[in-house]
Amino acid sequence: MYNCEIVFILNKLLVICKRERLGLKLLTTMLLWMIKKTKTIQFDLKSTLVGPLWARAKYSQIYPELLEDFQAIDLIKKIKEKHSDSQQEFEKMENFVDEYYGLAFVNRAIIFDNIIKEYLKKYPYACIINLGCGFDTTYSRVDNGNLTWYNLDLPEVINYRKELIPETSRNRVIPKSIFDFTWFDDIDYDEEKGIFFIAGGLFQYFYEHKVSELIIKMSLKFPKGELIFDNPSRIGIKIINRRFKKQGVEGVTFVFHVGNPKKQFTKLSNNINLVNSFPFFRKMEIKKEWKLKTKLMIFLCNKLHIVKFIHLCFLSNSTSSFLK
Ligand SMILES: C[S@@+](CC[C@H](N)C(=O)[O-])C[C@H]1O[C@@H](n2cnc3c(N)ncnc32)[C@H](O)[C@@H]1O
Repeated sequence: MYNCEIVFILNKLLVICKRERLGLKLLTTMLLWMIKKTKTIQFDLKSTLVGPLWARAKYSQIYPELLEDFQAIDLIKKIKEKHSDSQQEFEKMENFVDEYYGLAFVNRAIIFDNIIKEYLKKYPYACIINLGCGFDTTYSRVDNGNLTWYNLDLPEVINYRKELIPETSRNRVIPKSIFDFTWFDDIDYDEEKGIFFIAGGLFQYFYEHKVSELIIKMSLKFPKGELIFDNPSRIGIKIINRRFKKQGVEGVTFVFHVGNPKKQFTKLSNNINLVNSFPFFRKMEIKKEWKLKTKLMIFLCNKLHIVKFIHLCFLSNSTSSFLK
């Protein structure tokens, strides 16, 4: 079946869904069916870490007007030089991270860049904490010469990262799990200077009570701080887990999902507020030359809120009943 046929059928279905008020269920079934039609490829877990880096390097070369990520391009070169067998991994990536997923990583980078740049206008000396940083390169794109950046990830990831991107006095690393709360004390925190947390593609791997506990503790430790992350909905995790299973990704399951972010996060503590929440691709500029499948998936992702961004802020006064 060709893309144009899929689009034609889905368009018809959208009309029927609207008319008959069938809504989400049927559209989701159709989306799952379309994903099943995509090519499958086996790859191991450690490759998922490289996925966002690889995608940013590839698509920022094709669409520099969307994102210029020179450091990602440079890192891919370095990894290839360092590990002769990495070429094979990158070839697998070419099949796994298709145009839609590649552009999703680019989109996340654009959203994070813009929100951090806005924050730095208010707090030029802020600390920015990148939770589950992997091979993220945001610092290289947003550094204003004054901020202090912390990249936090598991020790083995940080060790490898440090070989590729050396630590500096304003671009530091924290080799710890997000659930080892001693990392709070590794940050030179000054409430007046501001603190902003980003967590790209991270929380969905953990159970809700773990994520909730982390966010509450952060809110208590860092009053006036802000946090932005992307997370799938219940439908979103079903779709992505199916894709993982089909493509032979073992040991990775998405569990945490976000439905109504205002309800879900403000109930945790009275010092947690929702600043904003919006569909993943809402701000993406759609290009004519993209594949029909890509455009359709973007449309459905936005329409059904399959993945969204959630921006929280922490207030000064606090009473959390959750941790008691
Ligand atoms: C899908 S990658 C996203 C990487 C990065 N945020 C990006 O967008 O390029 C998820 C990252 O979370 C990290 N991670 C997984 N469990 C973690 C934990 N308990 N504490 C800190 N980082 C963790 C992984 O090592 C990996 O780098």
